[in-house]
Amino acid sequence: MKVLVTYLSQTGNTKKVADAIFGEIKGDKEMKTLETTSDLNGYDLAFVGFPVWSSGPAEPAKKFLEAHAPRSADARVSRWHTSELQGSSCPGSAGRFLRLPRSAL
Ligand SMILES: Cc1cc2nc3c(=O)[nH]c(=O)nc-3n(C[C@H](O)[C@H](O)[C@H](O)COP(=O)(O)O)c2cc1C
Repeated sequence: MKVLVTYLSQTGNTKKVADAIFGEIKGDKEMKTLETTSDLNGYDLAFVGFPVWSSGPAEPAKKFLEAHAPRSADARVSRWHTSELQGSSCPGSAGRFLRLPRSAL
């Protein structure tokens, strides 16, 4: 199983979570910034993290997800976000859980 952790982070919060997720994954894994991720082809599982901007996914992440993971139910993609406010509204990721298949851990 090949796993990608990709993230967008301006001030480091989302990167900290990306580092923690990446550290827990065993086996074939890769970590990249969202800016250097062209698509999700070739990965069995992708963790995509981004900050909340103006109560939604940060714009570059929104565009990336619309282009490469348009179905929010896609089991191969786990999204997470960081935000200033606890429970900050973020359509597209709010209420969703990270999926951590045992096989990746
Ligand atoms: C332009 C901008 C808009 C933001 N809008 C929100 C918001 O609507 N709600 C919120 O809780 N946090 C908001 N934040 C705070 C960020 O989501 C939060 O600090 C996040 O953890 C930053 O992630 P990063 O350190 O990976 O860049 C905003 C930050 C920026 C820069």
